[in-house]
Amino acid sequence: MTQSLILRRPDDWHLHLRDGAMLEAVLPESARHFARAIIMPNLVPPVVTAHDARAYRDRIMAALPEGMDFTPLMTLYLTEQTDPDDVADAHASGLVSAVKLYPAGATTNSASGVRDFDKVRGVLDKMAEIGLPLCVHGEVTDADIDIFDREAVFIDRVLDPIRRATPGLRVVMEHVTTSDAVDYVTSQPQDLAATITTHHLVINRNHILAGGIRPHYYCLPVAKRETHRRALRAAATSGDARFFLGTDSAPHTDALKESACGCAGCFTAPNTLSILAHVFEEEGALSRLEGFTSLHGPAFYGLPANEARITLTKGDPVPYPSRIETGDGPVTVFDPGFALHWRVT
Ligand code: NCD
Ligand code: ZN
Repeated sequence: MTQSLILRRPDDWHLHLRDGAMLEAVLPESARHFARAIIMPNLVPPVVTAHDARAYRDRIMAALPEGMDFTPLMTLYLTEQTDPDDVADAHASGLVSAVKLYPAGATTNSASGVRDFDKVRGVLDKMAEIGLPLCVHGEVTDADIDIFDREAVFIDRVLDPIRRATPGLRVVMEHVTTSDAVDYVTSQPQDLAATITTHHLVINRNHILAGGIRPHYYCLPVAKRETHRRALRAAATSGDARFFLGTDSAPHTDALKESACGCAGCFTAPNTLSILAHVFEEEGALSRLEGFTSLHGPAFYGLPANEARITLTKGDPVPYPSRIETGDGPVTVFDPGFALHWRVT
């Protein structure tokens, strides 16, 4: 039995670091294990221009504790006012690694997102031309579409038309939660990839709703039924290079989660790698973990894999704090519901 596993240092291809006191508290939780991360731009106000991204990157680097090695890969929040030339300059200078599309109103801090997709056509064409990936929050926002159907409907109504209208656009479907998304990705050419979160490999919708409402399992896209979780596990552990890790670790204070109208987001940065090793072992796929965490993402983004290595060792249960303290208040760490035996060293 494998008791120890050496992996190239992982990257997180979808991460929320927030700002200010929250940034200071959560950044070390990712930087401890991850070399790089795609940083989500949904601050208030959002990171829209190259100027915003440069300032945010500076704040992240200023918050990074001495001695920690971490590179934030910045993104721009696509709005109907986004200037294609600003995006192209930000890409050419190496400042941004992707542009993020939020349908307006889809999730936390997405009010400035896109309503009319024709208005972003010029930016998308420019991105296709320069090879800059589009990261997509894949949910429609129509009130008449059931929340559990919003990802599948998005593929037909929005994503597929965008990709047809913009040939060559490289797209990452982020935090996929359905077998529909997995099937769509595998049916398409290699210019489409998908990230999968840690928590969607662990929970289904019953974990949120059965036997009491559990706000710390509520995130967007919301976890679906068990058949979908199984499809995500199969995709993540398949070795298919179009699927890679994006934790979507999304901290909110307990006060904001444990509320009559709680915020969406699971905070998984601290224990993600221990959970993933557990999941991949359960699936008999430990040999494919490195592809998912450390190789497929860089390949899609055209970056070298990390040279540094981490070791995962199996042994006595690894204690993780149930919450971390931040200047804004406590933030609960995702509880996978099982003991974690894989330790990162
Ligand atoms: C994210 C957040 O809190 O910023 N929440 C979430 O549930 N995943 C936004 C997002 O990625 O949808
Ligand atoms: Zn997210």
